[in-house]
Amino acid sequence: MNTLRRLVFALLCLSLTSAWTREIESFNSDWKFARFGPMPDGSELAEPKGMEKTAYDDSEWRDLDLPHDWGIEGPFRSDLPNRTGKLPWAGIGWYRKSFDSPKSDAGKRIFIDFDGSMSGTEVWLNGEYVGEWPYGYSSFRLDLTDKLKVGKKNTIAVRLDNKPESSRWYPGGGIYRNVRLVKVAPTHIDHWGVYVTTPIVNADEATVKIETSLAGQSSKAEIQHEITEDGSDKVIATGQGKLSFIKVASPKLWDLDSPSLYQLHTKVLVDGKTVDTYTSIFGIRTIKYTANEGFYLNGKLVRMNGVCQHHDLGPLGAAVNVRAIERQIEILQSFGVNAIRTAHNPPAPEFLDLCDRMGILVQVESFDCWYRKKADNDYARHFWEWWERDTINMVRRDRNHPSIVMWSTGNEILEMSHPEEAWISQMQTDLIKKEDPTRPVSFGGSKPDAAFNGFQNTIDVYGFNYKPHLYAEFREKNPDIPVYSSESASTVSSRGEYFFPVSDDKFIGQGGYFQVSSYDLTAPNWAYRPDIEFEAQDKYPWVFGEFVWTGFDYLGEPTPYNKDKTNLLNFTDPAERERMTKELAKLGGDIPPRSSYFGIVDLCGFPKDRYYMYQARWVPELPLVHILPHWNWPERIGEVTPVHIYTSGDEVELFLNGKSLGRKQKGVFEYRLRWDDVIYEPGELLAVSYKNGQVWAKNSVQTTGEATQLKLTADRNLIAADGQDLSFITVEVLDAKEQLVPRSHNNVQFSISGPAEIIATGNGAPTNHTSFQSKERKVFNGKALVVIRSIKGKKGNVTLTAKSDGLTTATVKVRVK
Ligand code: GAL
Repeated sequence: MNTLRRLVFALLCLSLTSAWTREIESFNSDWKFARFGPMPDGSELAEPKGMEKTAYDDSEWRDLDLPHDWGIEGPFRSDLPNRTGKLPWAGIGWYRKSFDSPKSDAGKRIFIDFDGSMSGTEVWLNGEYVGEWPYGYSSFRLDLTDKLKVGKKNTIAVRLDNKPESSRWYPGGGIYRNVRLVKVAPTHIDHWGVYVTTPIVNADEATVKIETSLAGQSSKAEIQHEITEDGSDKVIATGQGKLSFIKVASPKLWDLDSPSLYQLHTKVLVDGKTVDTYTSIFGIRTIKYTANEGFYLNGKLVRMNGVCQHHDLGPLGAAVNVRAIERQIEILQSFGVNAIRTAHNPPAPEFLDLCDRMGILVQVESFDCWYRKKADNDYARHFWEWWERDTINMVRRDRNHPSIVMWSTGNEILEMSHPEEAWISQMQTDLIKKEDPTRPVSFGGSKPDAAFNGFQNTIDVYGFNYKPHLYAEFREKNPDIPVYSSESASTVSSRGEYFFPVSDDKFIGQGGYFQVSSYDLTAPNWAYRPDIEFEAQDKYPWVFGEFVWTGFDYLGEPTPYNKDKTNLLNFTDPAERERMTKELAKLGGDIPPRSSYFGIVDLCGFPKDRYYMYQARWVPELPLVHILPHWNWPERIGEVTPVHIYTSGDEVELFLNGKSLGRKQKGVFEYRLRWDDVIYEPGELLAVSYKNGQVWAKNSVQTTGEATQLKLTADRNLIAADGQDLSFITVEVLDAKEQLVPRSHNNVQFSISGPAEIIATGNGAPTNHTSFQSKERKVFNGKALVVIRSIKGKKGNVTLTAKSDGLTTATVKVRVK
């Protein structure tokens, strides 16, 4: 069709359509997929030419639906780098999909929106090149309009080139977030084109400011807005125009305990006809940071009890799943987390929607490096060409989320040691402030000099990574800059592992088969135990909070076993070092650790001991006393076996087999109580905690009997038949008295009946190379996890069965509705 005929056709369609409304269609299903280059089994497969062409025969390719992470499918390979998870995520992947464009597409603008694609994405439609986006964590839109064959079959082809050595952690691989087609009239609201802020908020009224940008603008376009409370159809306020100020009476504020949300419905009309509709979710709240006091939410001082989180979902990998993200946030909130830093990249939009709904403060971060690289193929390759587009997309996509309270331009950026490069920081801050003047800009500063060499003046609030000893000096030299810990602690531990003798030397504490002791005293050289940050935060309360590295264990970066010889030396005493060196030699240099030890909870979401240390501090109203270690040490009878206690009380009396081992009170800046010379005997340890002289909490650990039975517990016994919903089922090995047997490693087989499938299993051991899709798994220190997913449209009762030699079988039922 020539241009004129196209135009006439478009106008005809326009006049025939009574109402043009935006169509947003999921574009996740029915893709064909194939891998090339480095293959999962270690071989190489040459990439054929011409796969972007419509006629290319993809009939042999694999069928799949998005989101998809090809890396998590494994296998774990001993020759792949520990720090990126020993999984085969690097490689070239092609996705192709044929789809019909209905006649009603004529005259519309047709876009494809990717929430994130890992990485180096290039797109063709009907053999013609459409566009590209290198950064795997950015959301981006491509315009398909000119290449779309309206009323016919179309073929889209997407090539990803996920380079090795591009990350310091497991990045995943593939189109791992959602994809949509968006169809709009020629005059429409631009991509992320409605920006909502709340410049004036008080108890009786809030002013909502709306800035709308239109694309393909007809001069006659009119814009109308309606506001409703989220979940209600009742319009509570209206307004019009590109720039509009709307008053909301008695606003319900977005707060941590009551995260109230509103919806803004924007309509674009041309000649009285609606040509576009657009819904934005927003919250009404105020934020303020002061150097002397800290962070205020709605006028109240709030400490950020935060964690850093990487984007993976443990055994599920990087592929987005709403329930899996929601579960992570629930677990984090259960020990008092109220803030998350999205280390070190923009998150999935679903993550932010959940933070809005669940009442979490968020710092969204753009990059782990600028132009100076940390890994051979990392973002440094793209920085100069792409930083601006990636930064704009981050801010525009997310600036309506009330949960976001800070932006970060980067983590431990190498440029920060070069004061003459502070302008690179300033230019990013300036761009973010232009796109969103309502939130401060920060970064995670690692080098001490960045706090004093001028870089600190390029941002609004200063984030220290691991520098509690510099807070006082910072305040003295930078009296006006609010400050917090963007990364703290980095304590390492394996759930349920304890090594003796227990030492306060942070480099000691490794043992077993590449595990780290859970006395919570071990940390790499740049890091420290939680107590040290607590002390600094208490001494300097104007440090407005901390983001612990990390909430969950994540795939990759298994420090101290990162296959980095320096760390190996850091961590071990000479004897240990020698033992480790031999171990390493035996393994031919390829050591098994593939996920991190930093988490407060393990890769499956099971609490480590540290969970209770943070819970005692961050949920002080919860009566809590936690004892470590477990009390199953037949080989230690008569030996010193220290007992450490975390409590939200202020005093604890410890009893071993009914005999008091003394009552201890927490001193100033003391966050754990220690009985370092307990002589082990089997039986019962009982801790009685007191607060203000009154009994506050009691807890005990017993030496257990032999393992006799399995137990299954589902986090949810009712899930939706949408093909997405999950139930997370905890597997436990118990003795006859139903006590968890702490050192059990029984092999368990799982089977399922009914309309759901087992999609992943895990056990939280950072060394385990059993495929995450395996239906058989050893428990690690008594526990494992099975994740089951519903099948779209299939309802009914599901039974998961767990069997293990010598143990009583267990089942659990889940209803799919
Ligand atoms: C920090 C870094 C994080 C992680 C952490 C481990 O220096 O910013 O990404 O590597 O160390 O302790």
